[in-house]
Amino acid sequence: MPSRETTRVAVVGYGYWGAKHVRVLCGLPEVEVTVVDQRPERLDEARRQFPTATTAGDLAEVLDHVDAVVVATPPTTHAQVALHALGAGRPTLVEKPLATSVEDAQAMVAAAAERDAVLMVGHTFEYNAAVWKLKEIIASGELGSVLHIDSARLNLGIYQSDVNVVWDLAPHDLSIISFLLDDMPSSVSAWAHHDLGHQHVDVAYLALDFERIGTRAFVRVSWLNPNKVRSVTVVGDRKMAVYDDLSEIDRIRVYDRGVQPKAAVGLHLTGGPVGYRTGDVVSPHVAFREPLLVQDSHFVECVRTGRRPDTPGERGLDIVRILSALDHARLTGHAVPIDWHDADRPLPARLADAAPVLAGVVLNGEVAS
Ligand SMILES: NC(=O)c1ccc[n+]([C@@H]2O[C@H](COP(=O)([O-])OP(=O)(O)OC[C@H]3O[C@@H](n4cnc5c(N)ncnc54)[C@H](O)[C@@H]3O)[C@@H](O)[C@H]2O)c1
Repeated sequence: MPSRETTRVAVVGYGYWGAKHVRVLCGLPEVEVTVVDQRPERLDEARRQFPTATTAGDLAEVLDHVDAVVVATPPTTHAQVALHALGAGRPTLVEKPLATSVEDAQAMVAAAAERDAVLMVGHTFEYNAAVWKLKEIIASGELGSVLHIDSARLNLGIYQSDVNVVWDLAPHDLSIISFLLDDMPSSVSAWAHHDLGHQHVDVAYLALDFERIGTRAFVRVSWLNPNKVRSVTVVGDRKMAVYDDLSEIDRIRVYDRGVQPKAAVGLHLTGGPVGYRTGDVVSPHVAFREPLLVQDSHFVECVRTGRRPDTPGERGLDIVRILSALDHARLTGHAVPIDWHDADRPLPARLADAAPVLAGVVLNGEVAS
């Protein structure tokens, strides 16, 4: 609401992640927070931790008295809660994944458009300075053509009750990879398994083909791994880069390493069909700010100014479309094409109109700042 000094935000869902939103929002200037959770014990905890926040057991109790809503409830409830908020014209930030079906995500985007209300999806990694730096490195051409991207998000849990490991963890990888490449996959394949006899798959291997730009990505997600791994490796034909989200000091490393056919000059040749080139490993400085703080500050700015978010509802819908195609691929065992020209929102004009990119990709896309 542009004319108000203070922005009143309701955070619906005070669980593991909603509590982080409340911490971040309570620290922002001129923001008042109302915590909404259907569990009274969570509201007691919220009052203990954040005495300045008010609390309520149901969004309906407070919707008339807030300017904006953050939805941090389990994914299967996102659509219902967000449609309630959007129906009242409230700018709404919804955690990833935007929804658990394409139809629900479309309904949310349509409701926002109907009310001219801001709808933003919480793709936290698109507000992460290390991801911006990696995008900048790819766009600069330093890595050469991107041959493939390999992303791994492994841990012991946290097992979710309402979605499987693909819908829980892979939204991050899909948002990071499509953001880095500035493109969407033309087809997807998936293999997944439920090791614990649990109703939801807990280990999955995903493949994304970016036919238009001649590259591909592989994603591993698991709730059943002893080690926590959060890494994205970009393999270029000149250099390679690794983004390790768990590293405090060198989140990004650029390896001047590669493999080339033996015929190439100046290589140290081995007995095999290729020669290996090894050079420096460089870790560029990344001025890091907590991504959730960057994201929620951006949301408050959008609420105050009416600005379109950097991750609008349509972006969330795009990722839900990929997740749905991955479900289909997993169940049928076949690669599933995704026709973005049939989507409600086809590829951005700047992508559709771009000159065809030759095999591999050296992108000239915008660098987030
Ligand atoms: N962006 C990220 O990095 C990130 C990380 C973790 C989780 N998440 C997302 O955050 C969301 C919440 O995940 P979580 O792990 O905190 O879940 P959680 O189960 O820990 O918490 C959910 C809370 O919502 C409450 N709730 C459920 N339905 C409600 C309703 N209709 N009204 C009010 N309260 C309700 C529950 O009582 C619970 O306290 C999920 O969408 C998840 O995908 C995002």
